[in-house]
Amino acid sequence: MDKFVIEGGKTLKGEIKVSGSKNATLPILAATLLTDGVCEIRNIPKLRDTLTMCKLLRSLGKTVEIGPHRVIISGSVNNHVADYKLVSTMRGSFCVLGPLLAKLGKAKVSMPGGCVIGVRPIDLHMKGISALGVKSNFEGGYVYAAANRLKGAEMYLGGTFGSSVLATANVMMAASLAHGETVIESAACEPEIEELGNFLSSMGAKINGQGTPRIVINGVRKLNGISYKMGSDRIEAGTFLLLAAAAKSDILVKDAQYNQLLALIDKLQSIGVDVHKEGADIRVKCKKTLRPANIVTHPHPGFPTDLQAQYMALMAITPGVSIITDRVFPDRFMHIAELNRMGAAIRRDAGVAIVEGVKKLYGAPVMASDLRASAALVIAGLVAHGKTEIYRIYHLDRGYEDLDGKLTNIGAKVYREKE
Ligand code: EPZ
Repeated sequence: MDKFVIEGGKTLKGEIKVSGSKNATLPILAATLLTDGVCEIRNIPKLRDTLTMCKLLRSLGKTVEIGPHRVIISGSVNNHVADYKLVSTMRGSFCVLGPLLAKLGKAKVSMPGGCVIGVRPIDLHMKGISALGVKSNFEGGYVYAAANRLKGAEMYLGGTFGSSVLATANVMMAASLAHGETVIESAACEPEIEELGNFLSSMGAKINGQGTPRIVINGVRKLNGISYKMGSDRIEAGTFLLLAAAAKSDILVKDAQYNQLLALIDKLQSIGVDVHKEGADIRVKCKKTLRPANIVTHPHPGFPTDLQAQYMALMAITPGVSIITDRVFPDRFMHIAELNRMGAAIRRDAGVAIVEGVKKLYGAPVMASDLRASAALVIAGLVAHGKTEIYRIYHLDRGYEDLDGKLTNIGAKVYREKE
């Protein structure tokens, strides 16, 4: 396994480019199961997760040619079983359930395991597909689902913690080949869902309202292969904005979609960070001491849970007290212990994190746990005094393409070494 070795305290300056969106790519790759036509998808991020999804598509019968940031997917799906070995390594692969049902009328998909950020239930996925007439049961860690013909239906998909991104994706994809009209109320509004809806429309699906809480889909008989360019990754872009603020730097984040990050940008501006649009990029400048501010994460357009850990790293070195609450994944606080190993002063109290900003963090050996907690440790390592070693950075490689290379290009001292 690899580790990162970071020498903190370097001044960062220059440009950092955002790769294609991981969380938009995964459901869009799954959507290629809906057609026998050829799909060419460009600007795909080079990540473990996208490779895992390509392997899964191959196991389901698709031909997948993988090029630099590009895949060409063709052929017909001829296997309805999504194997435990692949699904268990990446929860996102559960979104093949909807397309398999739409194309084959049946699916056997391994249930996604839990992970360090939470239990990851699938009740909303099951509620959505059963509304479309699917009969299902659970056995041996697999979901067995089948339907003669999917029938459109009206449904409410809101859950205890708000809408569900991948449950919305599963229903959208199943409904696109169902008979009749489907209305999803309390649909996820994340940009990744909007992008999936646009992709499905380009394939010939009749779909409206993607990106809003109400999505209407009228099933069609067939969808076509298309050529498509992925949009950039808003969570990677947000991570870079937070990293630049923490390192008191002047960075141009290239190919970052400003309008997808308004909750974060509003918060950064309110605490004294100069963030503004420069064409298709975002300039972030931060020279002065910042003010602390509380956050509560919510489904989009609220503050994204996927940026909570990175924001905590910024607050860890901001004088004053800030309170961080995660309404989407209430237990997503694995990064607290690791940040405290570096000298942060963060404590949990009744489900919230209370962060008392300290003057300095100090380099230390720390352990990555989940994708975004690992990004928080990278931010902390870049600003800490001395050397930080981050172990198990395969978590990072799942969602950040060439992070060490990108950071080195803006002056950071980051080395990838064997553990
Ligand atoms: C997607 O996961 C993202 N993953 C996650 O990003 C992201 O944190 C999450 O959305 C929320 O924005 C991908 O897109 C691959 P949810 P998803 O269903 O769809 C509860 C990252 O770091 N829920 O929107 O699995 C759930 O427990 C990853 O890139 C149910 O109750 O998340 C959570 O509290 C981590 N029942 C809330 O909804 C369900 O059936 C939101 O989860 C499904 C979810």
